[in-house]
Amino acid sequence: MSQDKAAVVVIDHQKLLHFAKECFLSAGFAEECAQLIADSLIEADLRGLNTHGVMRIPMYLKRVKAGLIDPLAQVKVVKENANMAILDAGNGMGQPASMYAMQKAIEKASVATISMVGVRNSNHYGTAAYYSMMAAQQRMLGISCSNTEPLMAAPGGAKAVAGNNPLSIAIPGGKKPDIVVDMAMSAAAIGKIVLAQKKEQSIPLGWATDKMGNDTTDPNQALDGGSLLPFAGPKGYGLSLAVDVLAGILMGSGFGEEVKSPFDDFLHQQKVGHMFMAIDISAFMDLEEFLAKAEALIGQIETAPAAPGVQEVFLPGEIEFNTKCRRLVDGVPLPIGLIDELNAYAQELAVTSRI
Ligand SMILES: NC(=O)c1ccc[n+]([C@@H]2O[C@H](COP(=O)([O-])OP(=O)(O)OC[C@H]3O[C@@H](n4cnc5c(N)ncnc54)[C@H](O)[C@@H]3O)[C@@H](O)[C@H]2O)c1
Repeated sequence: MSQDKAAVVVIDHQKLLHFAKECFLSAGFAEECAQLIADSLIEADLRGLNTHGVMRIPMYLKRVKAGLIDPLAQVKVVKENANMAILDAGNGMGQPASMYAMQKAIEKASVATISMVGVRNSNHYGTAAYYSMMAAQQRMLGISCSNTEPLMAAPGGAKAVAGNNPLSIAIPGGKKPDIVVDMAMSAAAIGKIVLAQKKEQSIPLGWATDKMGNDTTDPNQALDGGSLLPFAGPKGYGLSLAVDVLAGILMGSGFGEEVKSPFDDFLHQQKVGHMFMAIDISAFMDLEEFLAKAEALIGQIETAPAAPGVQEVFLPGEIEFNTKCRRLVDGVPLPIGLIDELNAYAQELAVTSRI
């Protein structure tokens, strides 16, 4: 471990993986399940998406302890045909059910070209890209989305009615890194508003409203009963509702207000729904031709001139790809405060490993 001025400690990802797995094992998860959840969290930390990495361990395991997530849940197939399936996660963690669902979607698409597999009765599934990228690794197009509890007001609204429902589309990039679009529907994550509050800074207009529905630049007002705002106003809002229909209603899962917060609601199950699609490119055109065209498109963007003062323009997912390459070698930087919290939490769980 090495320490830098900004009170960040850099930790080898294998050590983090081991630590995370031990935490889930001690909370009653089976070996394979613990490994899989730990891997999804460390992948997020490696890709620079720390908000979805090991910092989520206490939140997940507090829900397990409160009886709101079943660590031994078995995923069941509710409906299935050649192109689709609906799975019931049995109120287990979102990650194992989602991995299983995307794997099923890939298998179906390899026979039937296009497939859609949904999951109902699930929980927070981490980053949307973790699953879409599974399809791109098989040189298919992958789509993944999930609903969340209402967090955003509709444009002009004064109450959170839409989730910030993440959506990811992954596209094989041939000899280039895959194109990975992975985004929440809010203009900014709530974590950024909490950070501004801590630093006593204002937030940009367009991030949030106060509890009356007025646009605000004051993080205190935003966090005191206010709502997040969708990205691009009605466009992000519309896309958010579409994801809620695809991942929630269509899959027979919770939707709208039925979906509960993993952070604030310790009385109810989350009832999250997810949707995964895989598309076999080779049914549409020769795969090598597609990959050559994807590389050409990436090349056009890479060689386009940057605006004054900008060093480099990026493809979707490229910053995360570069971050992963760096962090695999250098380790994952984590704030000391978080490390202390996780180590203290591990002690509570009687987990022997520390980070
Ligand atoms: N499970 C859940 O309930 C949930 C909810 C919300 C978000 N999430 C996850 O949180 C993560 C963060 O979401 P976000 O919306 O804050 O992502 P973000 O704003 O960091 O990135 C969104 C997209 O923009 C791209 N991007 C960012 N900067 C870029 C640049 N300069 N040039 C080109 N492309 C760029 C990224 O590669 C990504 O594809 C995602 O992994 C998402 O799936 C999960």
